[in-house]
Amino acid sequence: MAPRKLAAGNWKMNGTLASLAEIGRLLADHPAPGCDVLICPPATLLHAMAASAQGKIAIGGQDCHAKTAGAHTGDIAAAQLRDAGASHVILGHSERRTDHAETDAQVAAKSVAAHEAGLVAVICVGETEAQRDAGQTLDVISAQLAGSVPDGATAANTVIAYEPVWAIGTGRTPTSDQIAEVHALMRERLSARFADGADMALLYGGSVKPGNAAEIFAIPHVNGALVGGASLKAEDFGPIIAAL
Ligand code: G3P
Repeated sequence: MAPRKLAAGNWKMNGTLASLAEIGRLLADHPAPGCDVLICPPATLLHAMAASAQGKIAIGGQDCHAKTAGAHTGDIAAAQLRDAGASHVILGHSERRTDHAETDAQVAAKSVAAHEAGLVAVICVGETEAQRDAGQTLDVISAQLAGSVPDGATAANTVIAYEPVWAIGTGRTPTSDQIAEVHALMRERLSARFADGADMALLYGGSVKPGNAAEIFAIPHVNGALVGGASLKAEDFGPIIAAL
């Protein structure tokens, strides 16, 4: 089984109810996409977006707590995401790792919680610019994969997103060779560790736009994208979906 192709949008801390008009536009413009489509809005929009998506676009959270319930003000449990209509959750995004000091071990624990709640974990990894300049990229990615992806990961419950920190929201992207090198490494590590690691979807994220999507999707072991800014408007996300 080949990895499923996935065009995923991460709305980050953007969007209000009025933004749901974009879902209607996407559905109208791309009624039969050739890939799975996922949008991860702020938690405030999960319920309403799930209704707007009519089961045609998957909905995901942007984080979850490792515990199932309790005194954790401001946090959301994986089962609550599921209850709100989510099928996926982004975990270990570099903005969470930086803003909330999330460690690989915490990301792995959250991933286990996501799996137990029946969610697909979209686990993010990526090097900083300083790490790339120091020639540490492959070591960093290997360590993040080893520490953030739990033993129970399968091709059905886990997607990996490679997001170089320096490419996020900057308009800069790695060369095709640089993306290919990291994705080949991820495929090799996941295949060595998991029985169906060859089938896990590997996404690239970081300044994916309509203009560079086709080139990125042609890179071996790139099975889709995790898109930030360009996922907010149907006129931008639509062509990315079409390119996959
Ligand atoms: O999770 C997606 C992301 O971090 C990439 O953001 O705005 O560079 O596409 P952007």
